[in-house]
Amino acid sequence: SLPKVYVTRQIPPDGLKRLQESGQVQYELWDSDDVPVPRKELLQKVKGVDALLCVLTEKIDAELLNAAGPNLKVVSTMSVGFDHLSLEELKKRGIRVGYTPEVLTDAVAELTVALLLATSRRLIEATHEAKTGGWGTWRTLWLCGHELANSTVGILGLGRIGVAIAERLAPFKVKKFIYTDVEPRPELASMINAEYVSMDELAKQSDFLAACCALTPETKDICNKDLFSKMKKTSIFINTSRGGVVHQDDLYDALATGQIAGAGLDVTVPEPLPTDHPLFTLKNCVILPHIASASYSTRNEMSSLAANNLLLGLRGQPMIKELKL
Ligand code: GLV
Ligand code: GLV
Repeated sequence: SLPKVYVTRQIPPDGLKRLQESGQVQYELWDSDDVPVPRKELLQKVKGVDALLCVLTEKIDAELLNAAGPNLKVVSTMSVGFDHLSLEELKKRGIRVGYTPEVLTDAVAELTVALLLATSRRLIEATHEAKTGGWGTWRTLWLCGHELANSTVGILGLGRIGVAIAERLAPFKVKKFIYTDVEPRPELASMINAEYVSMDELAKQSDFLAACCALTPETKDICNKDLFSKMKKTSIFINTSRGGVVHQDDLYDALATGQIAGAGLDVTVPEPLPTDHPLFTLKNCVILPHIASASYSTRNEMSSLAANNLLLGLRGQPMIKELKL
């Protein structure tokens, strides 16, 4: 009989069609996009499967891999992030892992620019004022923000997404791009004329600082009190990577005390962020519900890439995008 696949979410149609039309697998699906599969159900459903197609809300850890058992050969995640996967446990079991970089780079960069401008030019505050009676008259300093022209933009973790963000920001007359990473990335940096600096200099020089790094043990909480305290009072912090790279209590303090001017976050800890969270009380914090890759075309491409990675993995062939474990 055909290899068994469990799909943990009702993913966009392109990927499901790919699995269906391949004739290569039989798959079962958690048939909802609005509610994640309950953990207990997931642990039941993965029993004996050959491959798993998951999204970022599912923790793929030792408990789950043990529940799946020895048939499991492939885990394919419909995401570029992989912090929900225990890579060590996967490697130990010889399980191959697919993910979906590159197809989402444009969508994420576009949203990052939108979030940056919404934060720096205070768009959310402004629409709120306009419709709730705050618009008394045209005022000379009312709702003033910070502009990109002549600014220095800092990128924390220079990958494809950081490059794509810089390419989109350059036409706004940014003066200088700087970045930091574990080591210089000359090839990527030369595409955007970015200078490699220390974390300290990144904090001190950036008018806009965008976190674009993967969440790993090394990057957890690296945006903390120490970083925020070195930033300019006029600077804007943007995060479209993972909430875990930010020490959220430190960020709250930096925003509440005016240590930095504003923050735009597409990612938080936890997700969803509870509606009574203190960050929601701050006017200078714009919070989005993790939508950076959310365009119809990109989500369909992620879906079909995840399906293709899975099918190739099951055939023992190189995946289109495979994580090196
Ligand atoms: C989204 O956050 C992703 O990792 O694809
Ligand atoms: C990293 O995830 C990147 O695509 O830049």
